[in-house]
Order: sequence, then structure tokens, then C-alpha cells
Amino acid sequence: MKVLFIGDIVGNTGRKALKQTLPHLKSKYSPDIIIANGENAAAGRGITASIAKDFFEWGIHGITMGNHTWDNKEIFEFIDDEPRMVRPANYPPGTPGQGYTVIKAGGKELAIVNLMGRTFLPPLDCPFRAADQIVDSLRKKHKHILVDFHAEATSEKIAMGWHLDGRASMVVGTHTHVQSNDDIILPEGTAYLTDVGMVGSREGILGMEREAVLRKFKTQLPVRFQVCEGKWHFHAVLVQLDPATGMAKKIQKIRLLEDEWIMD
Ligand code: FE2
Repeated sequence: MKVLFIGDIVGNTGRKALKQTLPHLKSKYSPDIIIANGENAAAGRGITASIAKDFFEWGIHGITMGNHTWDNKEIFEFIDDEPRMVRPANYPPGTPGQGYTVIKAGGKELAIVNLMGRTFLPPLDCPFRAADQIVDSLRKKHKHILVDFHAEATSEKIAMGWHLDGRASMVVGTHTHVQSNDDIILPEGTAYLTDVGMVGSREGILGMEREAVLRKFKTQLPVRFQVCEGKWHFHAVLVQLDPATGMAKKIQKIRLLEDEWIMD
């Protein structure tokens, strides 16, 4: 059972990279299930129904979100009717959408859970307690469980990896947009990577135009960020799961650069 998880797709540059690379990734790695973080897909902030539809048509089976979930107001019109999308599970009870779901594709099943960290991010409910509750209950019925921990602090993300070791099949981080180099299978079998990295412009700052971000740092005045065009980079992680135990056998980071990637 192979799971391909794609990091934060940022704006039109990221969507273009996704459309271009997915057919090659599918034929090279034959993933059974493909999940992507879509919280930056619409102009860097949120996602729309038509973007989600494109993702599903291109072969994404499930979409995770994060702190930008609500930034494009269109989401309120479709999130409750979209079973293949999850927003952080540790939002307060009554929040639209769902924090976990079960993705089915080609006879395979993967439960996906989205959680958000609280360090340098809004103070949601405790992600560790939410993880206990959701993952332990999913484990009664499902072997393969992916947790996308959308968080800023490396320590909080590593802590979540250890917290869920042996309970989730894989814990992968999103939000910082920079792929970390700490892919590992933890002792009890959970595949872990602090941050999967982004899909979008590599000529900007985390996918956004450099000038505006620099102006903000230099002046501290409010600035409108725009998605950066230019050459893209693509980051994902491929995890192979043991169907007998549900735990990970192999984890492999993927990084592709526009104009420099070669794939069989
Ligand atoms: Fe984020």
C-alpha cells in the first residue's frame, strides 16, 4: 500500500506544477492513494470548489487543510458536502467540515486526519488530545491512518510524531513550506517527516512574491501578498505501508525542480 502525500500547493504556480508532475509521479511510483494539502491553493489563501474539483480530476483522492482553511469564503458553500476534504480536527465543536475522513480508492482505504499546532498559531483545542481521541477510535476499524499535522514549530511536530508512534501509519507535517531532512520510521512503525515542503514558486518567499514579503519585514506595515510566478519546486513524500500491520515499511522524500527534473 503506497501513499503519496503532497505538501502545501501554493496558488496558480503550485497548481500548474501539480498538473504537470502528477502523471509522471503516478506512472513512476504507482501510489494507491494520493493526498495533498490544499490550504494555499487559491491565490495562497484557502481553496475554491473548482480548484478542489480539478485536484480530484487530476488524481488527488483527499485534501487536507490548515490555518488558511477559511480564507476563501467559498469554502463555506461546499466543505460540508465534500467527504474527501478535511480541516483541522481541533477546531471547536460545531465548526463546518470534518477533521478526519476515510479515503477509498482502488480497493484500498486510508483514514486521513488533519490537526493544527498551537505554537505561533491560533489557540485551538489541544492537538495531542484530539489525536488520541480520533486516532484511537479510527484504529478500531482502520489499519492505515495518515495524520497531517499543520504546525509551525518543529518541536511540536516532532512531539506529535512520537506521540502517535505505533498508532498512526504516518505523521507528516505541513505549513512551513520547506521540506525537512528528517524522514524516519519511528521505532513502533510510524513514518514521520517534520515538513513535506511546498508546491509552488521557488523564486518567491514560501511561494509568495518577494517584494511584498520583504516590504512587510522592513516596514511592519500591512501588505497584500501575491502568489509568485516563476519556476516551481515540488515536494512530496511517498510512504509504503505494510497491509498486515498498517505500519510503515519505507519513507521517501520527493523533490522536483522545474526544468531540472527527469523522470522515467
Ligand atoms: Fe499554513
